[in-house]
Amino acid sequence: MFEHLTAVPADPLLGIMATFAADPNPRKVDLGVGVYKDEQGTTPIFPSVKAAELKLITSQTSKVYVSPTGSPGFNRLLPEMIFADAGGVLKEGRVAVVQTPGGCGALWVAAKFLKRMRPDATVWFTDPTWANHEPLLGDAGLKLASYPYYKQGSSEILFDEMMATLSKVPADDIVLLHGCCHNPSGADLNRDQWKTVCDLAKKNGFLVFIDLAYQGLGEGIDEDAFGPRLMAEQLEEMIVVSSCSKNFGLYRERTGSLCVLTRNAVNATAVVTHLNKIVRGMYSMPPAHGATIVETLLDDPQLKAQWIAEVADVRARLKSLRQSFADAMQRRLGDDHFRFIQNQHGMFSFLGLTAEQVAQLQRDFSIYAAGSSRINVAGLSVNNVDYVAEGVAAVLG
Ligand code: LMR
Repeated sequence: MFEHLTAVPADPLLGIMATFAADPNPRKVDLGVGVYKDEQGTTPIFPSVKAAELKLITSQTSKVYVSPTGSPGFNRLLPEMIFADAGGVLKEGRVAVVQTPGGCGALWVAAKFLKRMRPDATVWFTDPTWANHEPLLGDAGLKLASYPYYKQGSSEILFDEMMATLSKVPADDIVLLHGCCHNPSGADLNRDQWKTVCDLAKKNGFLVFIDLAYQGLGEGIDEDAFGPRLMAEQLEEMIVVSSCSKNFGLYRERTGSLCVLTRNAVNATAVVTHLNKIVRGMYSMPPAHGATIVETLLDDPQLKAQWIAEVADVRARLKSLRQSFADAMQRRLGDDHFRFIQNQHGMFSFLGLTAEQVAQLQRDFSIYAAGSSRINVAGLSVNNVDYVAEGVAAVLG
């Protein structure tokens, strides 16, 4: 049965981790997969998250099953972080919530749900988008199409082109937006642009589907939720998937959520039963540990305040690395071509290199980026930023 199988290529992002690990060059720099790193190149556990985990471990009395929808406490507290009191949607019980195995799990459950709700609908995603959106949503059987979003080398979002395409999206289709810290470009919609997209969704009726994987890493926990909160105030229905991998540093604990905004509490209750059924038929129920850590943290005012300050430190470091890199490139090239990196948000930006130049950067300097020339800004450090600038300037010739 299996003898005819040949190996498929490694995932474009996860594959970089293995190649990087095998590289003996002591100066190697990993700007590949999107995990936060500190000055030492390690991905730390937030002290507030560690404290919440210890609190959980000492107080937990059972490991009995949760349910397909996950922990009720997490399902109450995480949507509060996303929506605050926007549009009264939480108070009115209009949001159906399930705790999921990470952001990917949320995307997958959402995709299965959408396939059942609207089997012929197309999901429109930004060009470019996160490398896993297309395979994941496509595997769920959804039809896919892209809309213009960002051109490499330019610091501008292609907003006019984007709106021209979105204005033709039929009412039954779905438009996927990145809530903040656009992956891979780092170029986010500004508030006016969010309003324009929201007005169009309201007028034309397409379903807004927001992927919020980096809340807190752009401008702030509340600021980064501007889009979802605006849409919650204005729209009757919407989907928001979120991940706790980056902002809580819970990567391997697989913690995320799927929120489905509905017209009323009766609809929301019905939606939960459908999501429940999808989950039961797939992985039965989500892992509890990461979600219970998040719940413990968000439910403890002191730990929550500590965590908010720690996320602010992460954000400040990302901003400072962006500036250091733009400055280092300015010193090398004598112009401000790379200044756009300073103005973008979150973990990612494009260098604007060709695939051949990215390969050369890896071959000659052991500097690893995604083939698209996306870099994880958090992989830069005070110690390596000049070396990276030297490599990038060299491959640019
Ligand atoms: C990334 O884009 O590198 C991260 O979101 C990690 C992943 O799973 O791809």
